[in-house]
Amino acid sequence: MQIRSAGSKRSFKSKGMKKVITYGSFDLFHKGHYELLRRAKELGDYLIVGVTTEHFDRMRGKLNLMDPIRVRMDNVWKTGFADEIIVEDHDGQKVEDIQQYGIDVFTLGSDWVGRFDYLKEYCEVVYLPRTAGVSSSALRDEKLKIVRLGIIGTGRIAPRFLKETSYVSGIEVVGAYNPEADSAKAFEDTYQVVTRTDDFEGFLSEVDAVYVASPNETHSEYVRSAIEAGKHVLCEKPMTFTYDEAVELYKLADKRDVVLMEGIRTAYLPGFQQLLSVAKSGVIGEICDIEACFTRIGAPGTREMTDAKYSGAFLEYGSYTMLPIFKLMGKNYKNIEIESVHGKNGIDIFTKVHFRYDNKVATAVAGAGVKSEGQLVISGTEGYILAKSPWWLTKGFDVRFEDPNKVDHYEATFQGEDGLRYEIAEFVRKINGSAGADYKLTAEESIAMADVVEKFMVKRRDLQRRLSCE
Ligand code: CTP
Repeated sequence: MQIRSAGSKRSFKSKGMKKVITYGSFDLFHKGHYELLRRAKELGDYLIVGVTTEHFDRMRGKLNLMDPIRVRMDNVWKTGFADEIIVEDHDGQKVEDIQQYGIDVFTLGSDWVGRFDYLKEYCEVVYLPRTAGVSSSALRDEKLKIVRLGIIGTGRIAPRFLKETSYVSGIEVVGAYNPEADSAKAFEDTYQVVTRTDDFEGFLSEVDAVYVASPNETHSEYVRSAIEAGKHVLCEKPMTFTYDEAVELYKLADKRDVVLMEGIRTAYLPGFQQLLSVAKSGVIGEICDIEACFTRIGAPGTREMTDAKYSGAFLEYGSYTMLPIFKLMGKNYKNIEIESVHGKNGIDIFTKVHFRYDNKVATAVAGAGVKSEGQLVISGTEGYILAKSPWWLTKGFDVRFEDPNKVDHYEATFQGEDGLRYEIAEFVRKINGSAGADYKLTAEESIAMADVVEKFMVKRRDLQRRLSCE
């Protein structure tokens, strides 16, 4: 097979040879792909096929491709129509390829009519009629059983979550549950999702999986009931307030053979994965310190600004800030110190958690009523990584060194506004058994966070008691 990566193109325009180029993912290779390639070849003498990388497809919003690129390229090659296969991995590549390969005809299926007319400046553009009745998306949906999902809790995040599910194939929101009638009705009316206010068992019986987005203090009970009913669970953070309960819930999920995932969305972002890989690559030397900060001054009256028992800075944002620490330094810290500043109503408006490891330190900082520079700094013996706010929606980061002129900047793929679609796609992949090993956020890491949450809760209750006595 003649395969050339996008980086090693050579320029040639063979005399008298009419060259055609086409592109696609060619996932779950089907008749429509075969017919497209057959007719593309007929448009000239030499056919080049660009096959997309997973990375490029993720950037285009295709998050659930099933075949790896090697398989997709093999399938294109097996048709016998392609004379050469190249890899497509970035926007704008088509213009470069057409010029560098000396292309005469660019072709794609008719689902793209008009979209690539700008290429007429470089070559002929032909849209071939699409083969009716078949597509990779439909095949993926057939292959993967669609996950019927129910949303528990219809507060602020539920509409955002609902919207993001539409970008992930293989999942459909079929219902919602909220015992509070007003909120349930508003959600049902606005989003046309049947929302029950009672009969929780009935709600569960109609779904394969649930997303728990109810108030923090209700998470663990909903999680337990859903798992016991054999449902997969994605739960907003913090899933529980105690170590023991977290252990118990993961054990229960294991026993019932269902997926249990804590919704710390940063863990599932491609950019955050890349940041962790770069940090672990040794480029900044030995990691000695991590400072992770997340602060937000919420609107007056919101739960995070007022609920002194079950909300506040650390319970709302602490999971984000602990995540890079546990991912890069592990869970076996030697010592932990938790310090908070409290607002008049008793909530922690600012909390700092200091972790001491064997010869390493880290600080997780959360604010809900105090504003600070919300950045992530990972310091090493050779340099440091700086991810600016909002680093928890990782879109890029710098690797910096002693020499201030030496800065490596990394840009990351990030689709949508809040990154939820990556978490949802991971949940669907896990349910379908196609997510591979569990490494983005392990049960052990989630349990370690619950342990810190428990220590924080004990300390805050003591302090609140003392303050109320004064
Ligand atoms: N194609 C076609 N007829 C089909 C499906 C695809 O002619 N029934 C063409 C597309 O127009 C494109 C090429 O095949 O030129 C590769 O398409 P690709 O996007 O990989 O396949 P789809 O089935 O359209 O994939 P998806 O459902 O993921 O969009």
